[in-house]
Order: sequence, then structure tokens, then C-alpha cells
Amino acid sequence: MTYQASKEEHPIEIVNIASLEKRAQETMEAGAFGYIRGGSEDEWTMAENTSSFNKKTIMPRVLRGIDSADLHTKLWDIQLETPIIQAPSAAQGLAHTNGEADTAKGVAAAGSIFSISTYANTTIEDAAAAAPNAPQFFQLYMSKDDGFNKFILDKAVKAGAKAIVLTVDSTLGGYREEDVINHFQFPLPMPNLAAYSEQSESGDGAGKGIAEIYAAAKQAIEPEDIQKIKTLTNLPVVVKGIQSPEDAEVAIAAGADGIWVSNHVGRQLDGGPASFDVLPEIAAVVNKRVPIVFDSGVRRGEHVFKALASGADLVAIGRPVIYGLNLGGAEGVKSVFDHLNKELSITMQLAGTKTIEEVKNTKLFSY
Ligand code: FNR
Ligand code: LAC
Repeated sequence: MTYQASKEEHPIEIVNIASLEKRAQETMEAGAFGYIRGGSEDEWTMAENTSSFNKKTIMPRVLRGIDSADLHTKLWDIQLETPIIQAPSAAQGLAHTNGEADTAKGVAAAGSIFSISTYANTTIEDAAAAAPNAPQFFQLYMSKDDGFNKFILDKAVKAGAKAIVLTVDSTLGGYREEDVINHFQFPLPMPNLAAYSEQSESGDGAGKGIAEIYAAAKQAIEPEDIQKIKTLTNLPVVVKGIQSPEDAEVAIAAGADGIWVSNHVGRQLDGGPASFDVLPEIAAVVNKRVPIVFDSGVRRGEHVFKALASGADLVAIGRPVIYGLNLGGAEGVKSVFDHLNKELSITMQLAGTKTIEEVKNTKLFSY
């Protein structure tokens, strides 16, 4: 039986981001929803990611003469309408028949950056064509086969990718019990793998679980790989999945042009710290040498504010975007950004900050 995904294309009413998960669950096949929602093992780290934002507070400030918030910011020479960007996520065809093409459209409409996963259900070219001239990054899962790595990086460069996101925290799959219970296997092919698999037996991902796909990827990723990718593409490389200051230092020393602080939202190592808890120390070590992207568990504008005030330059969202895609296609994705931007704007004004720079210079109140 062919996999049925949403075909919805309209803005969505949003009360809060967290409520989207239940709404998406009502529309999606159980295995697909479980794969998207699920974390590893006890999902302790997944839960900690969001609850950790409550450990620090924002002091309300008044008499600052502020009547609006300006969310504009930039990354390198890329002008952005918001500091919120989309986090790369695989197999978006599970959420919507247009998959990553609709996400790319919605993120472009939000004036933000879209990152396409190696394991997307849409080709790099089609995602680029869906939102021409909008900034897109390519997220690479390195393969053991350097032929594949060169093949797919060439495609990304030709498609106009502005940076490569090298994900380093998934050299094998976390133990995701919901996928085990559901015997989840991807129902749809991953065309960027398929394009290469015509020349090799790497397969196109359909009928495989994430653990099998990860097993075919490269486990022994090392710092030298960063320079290899830079040489192959002549693009900035952002290293995604950094959770320790030591690794941030190793990545920058090896040539990383950006650090993406993330624990894969608790889908990988369960029992690790919340991503928000490790951000300040990493930011101190990075010391503004390269930009920092932060993700994992962001569901409120105040979460975005706190991450920016703790050293992040940009804040990424994954599942909220997938749920918006499922519920409303490209316009649903835009609705997610619009809602989170609204909450961020309210938080900024009540905290007495008008610009993103002012937010970044705000000291959170620890108690
Ligand atoms: C992901 N993530 C991810 N990361 C990555 O580098 N490449 C990928 O292909 C994927 N795939 C993926 C699929 C799904 C279903 C999820 C939920 C996540 C991780 C993602 O980029 C990001 O780190 C988290 O999703 C951020 O947390 P939130 O916003 O989902 O809570
Ligand atoms: C995941 C991989 C694809 O989290 O990043 O499912």
C-alpha cells in the first residue's frame, strides 16, 4: 500500500507550538509520526531540552521607550527576517506529499534559511528550484564512500548551497524505542541517495530503518573531514551536533566556520545534558570567533530569546516545522515561523530589548 501523506496547503491557526504535535499525530500514520516525534531510550534528554529553559529567567525591563521589536539579523552576508532558522530533518515526505520543496518555500517566505538533509525525500535541485534565490544549506551525512561524498557535495554546490552543515552526532542511530515498536522503515526513497546508488549498491533508503541508513554512513568522522569538505566545495562548513566546549574548540581549530549546538533533540545519546545547559560554556570558548546556531526543544519565543542571550546567533527548529508542513504545507511552515516570531517579539518588548543585538547582550536572571 503506497504511503499517504498530507496534501494540505493553507495557513494554520496556532495557539502554541507545542500543541502542533497532537494535531499532526491525528493526521499521520503511526510509524511515521513515531519516527518524527520519537527520542532515544527514556527520552530523558529530549524532555530536559525543553524544561531546561525554565532554569534561567528573563528580567522584565521598563521605561525603555520601546514600541516595537526588530527581528532582523544576518549570518555572514545573508540578511534574515528572523534569528529563527529551520533545522534539517530527513524524510519530510512522511509529513507532506511535497516534502522538502514545500518546507523550502515556507522557510523562504519567512525570510529564513532552509537546510536540506542528505536523507531528504526531495532532490537538492528540486528544493532549490522551489525557492529560487532563497538561502539554502546542505546538511551532509558523510558516507564511508568518498565517491558518494564528492557526488552529493558537487550537487549541493551546483544547486547553489550557501553552506554545508556537517552533522557529527549521528555516527550511529540512538536507540529509538518507538521505531522498534513500530518496526519503522522509511516508506519513500531518498532521491539524493538513489541518484548515486544507480552507480553503486548504496540503495535509496526505502524499506530501511534509520539505524540501517546510519550504519551505511561514516562512523569514524574526524576533524580533518571538515577541511576536506571545505576544499571540495569552497563553502563555509557549520559543524552540527556539538555539545561540549572541547569539541567546539576542536572543530574551530580544524576549520569549522560555524558551530551548531545540538543534541539532535535527544534522538541520539539519551542521558546527555539539555542542549540549552551546555550553550553558555560553548559560547564562552567560541568567543565570537565563528557564529553559533542553537537547537533542541525550542517551543517558545522566550526559548529563542534565552538561547540568543546565552550565546547563540541563530536558533533552529525541527519538529515544529515538520508539524507545520504536515498541517498546512508551505503556508503551514510559514505560520509556524510567524507564530514563534510573534512570541519572540512580545518577549523582546517586555524585556526592554528592541533589536537582536540587544537580546544577545542581555544577561539572564539566574535564581
Ligand atoms: C532530525 N534531525 C536531523 N538532523 C540532521 O542533521 N539531519 C537530519 O537528517 C535530521 N533528521 C531529523 C529528522 C527528524 C524527524 C527530527 C525530529 C530531527 C535533528 C534536527 O536537525 C534538530 O537537531 C532537531 O530536530 C531540533 O529539535 P526540535 O526543534 O525538533 O525540538
Ligand atoms: C534522525 C536522523 C535522520 O534524527 O537525523 O532521524
